[in-house]
Amino acid sequence: MPTPMPAHQPLFLRNVCLPDGRSGLDLLVRDGRIEAVGPALAVPPDAKAIDAQGWLLSPPFVDAHFHMDSTLSYGLPRVNASGTLLEGIALWGELKPLLTEEAIADRALAYCDWAVARGLLAIRSHVDVCDDRLLAVRALRAVQRQVAPYLDLQLVAFPQDGVLRSPRALHNLKAALDLGVEVVGGIPHFERTMADGAESVRLLCELAAERGLRVDMHCDESDDPLSRHIETLAQQTQRLGLQGRVTGSHLTSMHSMDNYYVSKLLPLIAEAGVHVVANPLINITLQGRHDTYPRRRGMTRVPELLAAGVNVGFGQDCVMDPWYALGSGDMLEVAGMGLHVAQMTSVAAQRQCFDAVTVNNARILGLEGYGLAPGCRADFVLLQARSPSEAIRLRAHRLLVVRAGTVVSRMAPATAELSLPGRPATADFTAQTQGPPSQAPR
Ligand code: FE2
Repeated sequence: MPTPMPAHQPLFLRNVCLPDGRSGLDLLVRDGRIEAVGPALAVPPDAKAIDAQGWLLSPPFVDAHFHMDSTLSYGLPRVNASGTLLEGIALWGELKPLLTEEAIADRALAYCDWAVARGLLAIRSHVDVCDDRLLAVRALRAVQRQVAPYLDLQLVAFPQDGVLRSPRALHNLKAALDLGVEVVGGIPHFERTMADGAESVRLLCELAAERGLRVDMHCDESDDPLSRHIETLAQQTQRLGLQGRVTGSHLTSMHSMDNYYVSKLLPLIAEAGVHVVANPLINITLQGRHDTYPRRRGMTRVPELLAAGVNVGFGQDCVMDPWYALGSGDMLEVAGMGLHVAQMTSVAAQRQCFDAVTVNNARILGLEGYGLAPGCRADFVLLQARSPSEAIRLRAHRLLVVRAGTVVSRMAPATAELSLPGRPATADFTAQTQGPPSQAPR
């Protein structure tokens, strides 16, 4: 774990509500850890006390799927005219020879600043290893060390051009792991044949097992219902005893698969303990590009995976890069898009979408000491909202972001002062009613 910033003075937050629906609680932080959470706690005389005014306190946002080596490169050397995944990959190939270590690091650090301001304090980023210079690996390893006091950055060795399809990809991937990259990546649907895709899953899982590492593969990011590499990934996970350490990212082909096959596939993923990451913003824009109408949504089957007992997180994936022109590191925007695409509109399902950008992603990254219980590291975000649903609805302002007991970002509450005939008024868009909290899943 990275070394947190020193936090000598105790921190006391008065009057917060929590994602589980409890309200009117105080929270005491000492030595970078949460010491107590409860009603009417005594304020230590040496503590820095903050009145949270009943706003929602959440563990920090976590992004389980990002590409920090390409972020903020939008327009370099040109924009993606078709908007497709394949043109994005081709465009990234044009950009790679032009990259410098310094430029990658500068853009990554700028994005990390945005992340902290958004209360996003842990990110799993894939880093392309199909560049013999491994510039991006070296740049992001340096960034990882630099941001460690305030942001957990976990890196995945990602063979963007295919570990079998690209001649030196396996060599480079191993070299990246030797340089300290922690997770083994892959892209089986981009290999030349289904057989090569399955073979890539086998060899990469074996490599992870040999080295005691986690696995996170871009898997079946396609509208082809016969792209079934998730089946192989689950089977290899079981064979190698990697349960709980493997993630299948995207899985968009599942959207188009035959229902009978999916009814057999879901229990296999659950039994294998494979985590799933959906990337709603990216897949709603990249998938379905070969369709006329009806046009498929291109996101994996999130409610059905959750119902089967699979841990599902949502990822940002891209921000202003060859694949996506938008984004700002706002995991509430990600949760909101996932909610809409998957039609997860019930109170319980909205809460699941909030979990998908917090606790579920923390499980995927294997974060230790994550949460708001006594003993957890004092990482949290105070949101200008009264519930997880309201936080998603409003893309709530991050009033306070705390890392290991130290305030790392502040933002004033957003309130409009209206000048209306006959009466003064203000609007902050928060509601008096929050829905029935008893319907929340926990
Ligand atoms: Fe990705």
